[in-house]
Amino acid sequence: MCGIVGYVGSKPALNVVVEGLARLEYRGYDSAGVAVLTDGALMTAKRAGKLVNLRNALDEEPAPEGTVGMGHTRWATHGPPTDRNAHPHVDCTGRIAVVHNGIIENFAALRAELTERGHRLDSDTDTEVVAHLLEEELRDGAGGLAEAVRRVCRRLEGAFTLVVVNADDPDVVVGARRNSPLVVGVGEGENFLASDVAAFIAHTRDAIELGQDQVVELRRDKVTITDFQGRPAEVREYHVDWDVTAAEKGGYDSFMLKEIAEQPRAVADTLLGRIGTDGRLTLDEMRISDEQLREIDKIIIVACGTAYHAGLIAKYAIEHWAGLPCEVELASEFRYRDPILTRTTLVIAISQSGETMDTLMAVRHAREQRARVLGVCNVNGSTLPRECDGVLYTHAGPEVGVAATKTFLTQLVAVYLIALYLAQVRGTKWGDEVFAMVQLLATMPEKVERVLETMEPVRELARSLADERCVLFLGRHVGYPVALEGALKLKELAYMHAEGFAAGELKHGPIALIEEGLPVVVVVPPRARAVLHDKIVSNIQEIRARGARTIVIAEDGDDSVVPFSDTLIRVPAVPTLLQPLVATVPLQVFSCELARAKGHDVDQPRNLAKSVTVE
Ligand code: G6P
Repeated sequence: MCGIVGYVGSKPALNVVVEGLARLEYRGYDSAGVAVLTDGALMTAKRAGKLVNLRNALDEEPAPEGTVGMGHTRWATHGPPTDRNAHPHVDCTGRIAVVHNGIIENFAALRAELTERGHRLDSDTDTEVVAHLLEEELRDGAGGLAEAVRRVCRRLEGAFTLVVVNADDPDVVVGARRNSPLVVGVGEGENFLASDVAAFIAHTRDAIELGQDQVVELRRDKVTITDFQGRPAEVREYHVDWDVTAAEKGGYDSFMLKEIAEQPRAVADTLLGRIGTDGRLTLDEMRISDEQLREIDKIIIVACGTAYHAGLIAKYAIEHWAGLPCEVELASEFRYRDPILTRTTLVIAISQSGETMDTLMAVRHAREQRARVLGVCNVNGSTLPRECDGVLYTHAGPEVGVAATKTFLTQLVAVYLIALYLAQVRGTKWGDEVFAMVQLLATMPEKVERVLETMEPVRELARSLADERCVLFLGRHVGYPVALEGALKLKELAYMHAEGFAAGELKHGPIALIEEGLPVVVVVPPRARAVLHDKIVSNIQEIRARGARTIVIAEDGDDSVVPFSDTLIRVPAVPTLLQPLVATVPLQVFSCELARAKGHDVDQPRNLAKSVTVE
């Protein structure tokens, strides 16, 4: 949700910044803009729409030579996505420029004050007030740009990660962080700032994670970090363990296609190092002791979007293996009811980005109530792991496509590991039972690979359905969240009406939607779950009798569904709880191909952003 880049060095800043923005475009693509300092002057350029519009505009002008600059790619919150509302925003003198990620909640009052004092604000954004407040601070001799930023930050409320340049301080870029992410990239004679390391990974893999309420002053050969009061701040330095090729398409037409194809590796990487030679699980980063885990008497999972679907599946695994009651809640709803939390409640927060504000606010609420919080996260250096008692990283590598794919599968692996670890620690399963399941998990990369190899008929099917208006998805047990995820993918990518239902619930209402030719995707549980399996086979017959076109996902060798399937998609036979790992893949491929057939950009679907840093 908005991408920010800053650069101080000896290379032409414009190239570095625009390249960085290209890698951050997944965060928002309503507009893009840059600011470069050259010979004591500030040049800004900005355009509504995707980065390509800005690039085209820049190509028409001689490139500025300056080596200090910054850029922004926007996901609009305040004001429509126009040129005028695109960042950077400047002060009345046109010498101070600001880019921002977040929402300044007290901007209306500040704007009124500034207008009263004679400032002219040109945009509808909350961001612009910062440029004018800085103008006043610097005019009053605040003592340098970083100090002016600190003073202004103390007056702001809400979420604001800012990057600022001033033509009168031409060797400096200043950043401030509250809530939305900001990472420093440390180079040789050059330094970077960005919302995500992907923006500077082509230049350096040495990073510093900024903490909450910190200000960074970036010079060519110096990085100074303080809190909002100006006191030196504690920071965490780290080395990024993936390189620039991981953030590129590598020959695929889209990041989404590449990320779907990477799933076997991603699943394997999430398991790596977590299964001991004796078959016992070790989850080092848990930071919650076995003793504390034995005290837990309830689990609440909070998450949004696709991660929420991973949470729904986790509930089945935790209750079955670890014998603990487990609730799953949309993070955006969690703190607005009165959840009953105690010191013996474990809250598990699942978030790919680690930056989703709804999830972070739920975590803060849980910690205020003294619950222990475990994060499941894909992005090292993001906010979630810092705010949790413990963390389990999903080692999926960078995911650029806005619709989550490989991170969903790795979230599933992570929650299976947590459920099995709880079973191991609490003794709800024998050691050999846990080991047997872990060994099955270890075979999943190869099973996912097998699914990927057989996807051509699914792609064909998707192309044939490109003109449909609606698709329904049905499942039972863990197949129900898989159905929800299938429907979400189709909404996100193909902009089609799609709904997922628990198949047993069909008869209580949704069956009224069934009409002649309506495509209905049904996820059939393994035959080993005979009761569930047979019930869903009956559901398939019920909808088919009413004219539905049935698209059935069933395990290899399940012939009972053949007579009732207009299209049959096979997946490898696996235990019921693990079936989402194989059954989700055809649904990802289906939505991706259908969206491509409609001519949509699958990496950057309309109105969405990969990481939503506002509530
Ligand atoms: C956004 C994305 C979804 C994602 C959700 C949660 O809405 O568009 O694809 O599932 O955020 O993201 P997180 O980073 O918390 O997993």
